[in-house]
Amino acid sequence: MSHFIAPSILAADFTNLQHDLDMINSSDADFLHVDVMDGVFVPAISFGQSIVRQMKAACSKPLDVHLMIIDPDRYIKEFAEAGASIITVHYEACTHLHRTIQLIKSYGCKAGVALNPHTSGKLLDPILEDLDLVCVMSVNPGFGGQKFIYSALEKISYLRSQIRTKNLATLIEVDGGVGLQNAEKVLQAGADVLVAGSAVFKSERPIDTIRSLKEIGNHTLNV
Ligand code: DX5
Ligand code: ZN
Repeated sequence: MSHFIAPSILAADFTNLQHDLDMINSSDADFLHVDVMDGVFVPAISFGQSIVRQMKAACSKPLDVHLMIIDPDRYIKEFAEAGASIITVHYEACTHLHRTIQLIKSYGCKAGVALNPHTSGKLLDPILEDLDLVCVMSVNPGFGGQKFIYSALEKISYLRSQIRTKNLATLIEVDGGVGLQNAEKVLQAGADVLVAGSAVFKSERPIDTIRSLKEIGNHTLNV
């Protein structure tokens, strides 16, 4: 299996979103990564379900919705109805994580859990088999354009070994500071999905950058 590329729309030009979504539609991107921020769990406020619904209407790629919001159960139904294919919640924002995962699945979406840089991958041991995706945050969530935190590599490797040992199909997504300069290392550590915001949208030729990220080899999943 090859890896997946999920450009993060947070780094797009919001005065001309259609232009950037057209670029995504004609690119090798596998998903559109959509960052929803509530101004409480993270300092920034981004956008909500009505914007996500409009993105869905204009985007041919599945939406990978990353909820950086407190108590996400309140909004799972609305983001599912807005067109999310994957809904990822934060470990740190859920009191009853198992219940939240089941709620996401009950709406027909794939369920993901994101881990902040300080949160141990071991905390997912009891629930890993219920997850379609684990999102390893390689920056502190809240903003695009930050520097990759290299301790994430160890966490990716740990999760990869657990997934392999338990023979699961859970995908490992890596989010924050990922670009051509470190993508190979991230894939070698065991990632399946690369989220890239600034690396794509701030590059001179976003389509070529997406293709280059997609073509990076040495994916270790099948080795
Ligand atoms: C950070 C978001 C990321 C962000 C990635 O809180 O979850 O998805 O958009 O942006 P870059 O790739 O610029 O770090
Ligand atoms: Zn994200």
